Amino acid sequence: MSAAQHRTLKVRSSIKGRAPDLESLREVRACLGEMPRRRDLLIEYLHRLQDSFGHLAARHLVALARELRLSPTEVYEVASFYHRFDLVRDGEAPPPPLTVRVCTSVTCSLFGAEELAAALEEGLGEGVRIQRGPCLGRCHGAPVAVVGEHPVDAATPEQVASAVAAGDFAAPISEYIAYDRYRREGGYRTFQRCLSGEMAPEAVLARLEASGLRGLGGAGFPLGRKWRIVHEQPAPRLLAVNIDEGEPGTFKDGHYLCSDPHRFLEGLLIASCVVGIEAVTLYLRDEYPAGRAILERELAALRADPPGRLPAIELRRGAGAYICGEESAMIESIEGKRGMPRLRPPYLAERGLFGRPTLEHNLESLHWVRDLLEQGAEGFDVHGLRGRKGLRSFSVSGRVTQPGVHRAPAGITLQELIDEYCGGHRLYGYLPGGASGGILPASLADLPLDFDTLDKYGCFIGSAAIIVFSDRDRARDLALNALRFFADESCGQCTPCREGTLRARELMEREVWDAALLEELAAVMADASICGLGQVAPNLWRSVLRFFPAEVS
Ligand SMILES: Cc1cc2nc3c(=O)[nH]c(=O)nc-3n(C[C@H](O)[C@H](O)[C@H](O)COP(=O)(O)O)c2cc1C
Ligand code: SF4
Repeated sequence: MSAAQHRTLKVRSSIKGRAPDLESLREVRACLGEMPRRRDLLIEYLHRLQDSFGHLAARHLVALARELRLSPTEVYEVASFYHRFDLVRDGEAPPPPLTVRVCTSVTCSLFGAEELAAALEEGLGEGVRIQRGPCLGRCHGAPVAVVGEHPVDAATPEQVASAVAAGDFAAPISEYIAYDRYRREGGYRTFQRCLSGEMAPEAVLARLEASGLRGLGGAGFPLGRKWRIVHEQPAPRLLAVNIDEGEPGTFKDGHYLCSDPHRFLEGLLIASCVVGIEAVTLYLRDEYPAGRAILERELAALRADPPGRLPAIELRRGAGAYICGEESAMIESIEGKRGMPRLRPPYLAERGLFGRPTLEHNLESLHWVRDLLEQGAEGFDVHGLRGRKGLRSFSVSGRVTQPGVHRAPAGITLQELIDEYCGGHRLYGYLPGGASGGILPASLADLPLDFDTLDKYGCFIGSAAIIVFSDRDRARDLALNALRFFADESCGQCTPCREGTLRARELMEREVWDAALLEELAAVMADASICGLGQVAPNLWRSVLRFFPAEVS
């Protein structure tokens, strides 16, 4: 049992069947203030408590349970599911006031993240906690450390120490296109045309379908078809926007959110109008505090001067669980529960959030809706379906000279990406789809990077997170790093994934890999796991065994 599991078990035993004390109840009520008391807001309440007290004390969890008329165990189960919450039992010391998070995910691991974390543990001293953790969505700046909420890119121990000494722990907000400018430049006119009926729902659906635009969150389901399916379901219908962006190597949604937030907001308003959506929930990963500040500010501006009738729009904070990017786990999380993927059918389009038909989209999918409608399906060819190459947003990181979000033709090859967009040399291999999409060798740098083009190599592009590595690196190390991540992030609901990721980790830590046993494990996981996490994790070791066998034999 890990130290963390041991600690959470001790907290659970300290709250089970316990009555709240009056002082704790008073503190919880004061902290929640005027917030409505709703079961689905449980994670928001936990954030409030954590923000106010710096941790979640067992006595506060018990009091919160009483306030919500839930059992303490129910509250505890949710709190302990999410990495962002620090559970502390009675008498135990709370965490130090300042946390420095060091990303040790795939890209940062190439740039000495482990050594950075170790040096910080040595050097920063008391009052500061160093936390190693998964991708922070700033892979272009690897290695990355975040001091409080303040990111330090290309971090060295000295830079982090000086950020700690400076005492500015807030997330900086870069310049972005705010509401007034967006409207001045023609924003929300397309939404108004939909609202007035000038652009009829059927015409919009037809245009979306003709464009071939596919979802950009990973699975690539066509937008037009999804909108039509939800449109045909009985009202009330809901929309949930996925801004969880936890896939290691992916940072495009954060880029669009923090540079041009109204473009996806207009997309969601158009979707609401066309599909007949009553209420919208934005699910934002908690690792994007600047994005949250921007959204709060810009939603207020939108509501203060609405371009037309708005649906209810609610912003929710994720709490550091990668699995909550999976659409049905996200729905569970919005309902205030642990983020456990649902069995399907029923699909979200029929029975999703609060049991209602739900349209669920990645932020970037909605970002392009306005442009598509304004330019027409002919002018806007996002996936290059009509022979011309449309554009895709590639999050490129690793051993390249210009990491970042590059808008490049769909179907571009890695070699072309390097030559024309981001530079790089001594290429040894690359991950075409973050941690999930497998690993390819340099000899396959001429494959078109697009939906469906990598299937026969056991890989996929997913959210187009390209992580490049060179002959200084080993594919097996990256595979093991990503597998450890999946083992940590597995929700534990189904045995093939929960046990399979742990077992695979052990096997991959060995110098020589047992290829037959790993393949047996891969087959069970791919066939019998409930969701994509367990189904695609085997891509990692299958890729290494297929393309880099010398490293593991
Ligand atoms: C383990 C796992 C994690 C996922 N994480 C995300 C995510 O962070 N953001 C996202 O948009 N989609 C994510 N997805 C894909 C969603 O389940 C879903 O397909 C997508 O949000 C649909 O939106 P789209 O049609 O606009 O692409 C994930 C899927 C799996 C299996
Ligand atoms: S495959 Fe893994 S993450 Fe998905 S439901 Fe099963 S245990 Fe949870």
